[in-house]
Amino acid sequence: MIRTVLISRNYRLLWLGCVTAALFALSPTVLWAQEQDKPADLTTLRQKYNAAVQDDRLDDAVRIAEEINWLVQEPHTAVLLDIARLHARRGDKVKCFQSLKRLQGAGYWDVRSIMGDEAFAAYRQDTIFKELTRAIWANGYLFMLERDERRDFQKPEEVMQALALKPGERVADIGAGSGYFTVPVAKAVGPTGRVLAVDIRQEMLDYLDFRLRAEGLANVQLKKVEPDDPLLPRGEVDTILMVDVLHYIKERTAYARKLRDALTPGGRLVVIDYRPRPFAERPWGPPPEQQMSKESVDQDMAGAGFKPVEVYEFLPEQYFVVYQISE
Ligand SMILES: C[S@@+](CC[C@H](N)C(=O)[O-])C[C@H]1O[C@@H](n2cnc3c(N)ncnc32)[C@H](O)[C@@H]1O
Repeated sequence: MIRTVLISRNYRLLWLGCVTAALFALSPTVLWAQEQDKPADLTTLRQKYNAAVQDDRLDDAVRIAEEINWLVQEPHTAVLLDIARLHARRGDKVKCFQSLKRLQGAGYWDVRSIMGDEAFAAYRQDTIFKELTRAIWANGYLFMLERDERRDFQKPEEVMQALALKPGERVADIGAGSGYFTVPVAKAVGPTGRVLAVDIRQEMLDYLDFRLRAEGLANVQLKKVEPDDPLLPRGEVDTILMVDVLHYIKERTAYARKLRDALTPGGRLVVIDYRPRPFAERPWGPPPEQQMSKESVDQDMAGAGFKPVEVYEFLPEQYFVVYQISE
């Protein structure tokens, strides 16, 4: 029986905080959301949901349904996790993995708990167990990238407007993730344009493949790349986009030289990344050791011959710089 629990938006914030903490363990860029404290319970939410559906207020109905999902997900996944643990204790690896697969399918994201759980200690080196934990990690990461609240600071429409992409352009989206920008970029360049969406994580590319098929977009090519090489074709890309990715790159000038080689004459490199801020002020985004100022990025890019040609100031948390090769 699903336990009826009283939650508030604080619970959701706590969930986000836990995802954040878990993702810090594996991937340092994490995002956060500001939520208001607003208690809710399942019965009230179901009544509101029914009323919204009846009145054909479908946007409201979706929002309320998402709240209901928050309420039921935690007890649901807790039970699935218990079942997986029990099968592990019984020594039934297959049933344990089947239960973990159900857990992942139910949206569970807390990969750190799974990896640290003594019940699964014997399976930690198992290929299928590793596959399952990567998929569980991806649940959290995709959620963080796609959550509604990101719009407040990422301002995707304004970014797209500033980029002013033209039909027929060839764009590389490096570190495409869930496709937050790949999709609007693919729409902007249209069927005569091309988008090369690259990422080091197969889980992100798998999700993006699904999303592009759902969107009916056929002008995007996906590629798994190396951390130090975006594997772009020489001289074929008009715009290279890097949103919240550059801080992952260790040798930025060497990397920028590879980007330069991929650009068409007059092509541009667009970098959007987090302004440095203490963790106490912003408990999300890159950790202190990965934060980099716009000035240091300018310097790294200058080493590969890039100079900033446009700087946009409208993003509250990030700098937004367009670079071109200086003549
Ligand atoms: C914070 S996410 C940003 C995703 C997307 N650009 C967006 O704005 O939603 C960073 C993405 O970059 C990928 N990534 C990290 N290091 C990378 C590298 N060296 N080359 C390509 N992708 C990388 C990660 O796997 C992840 O999908």
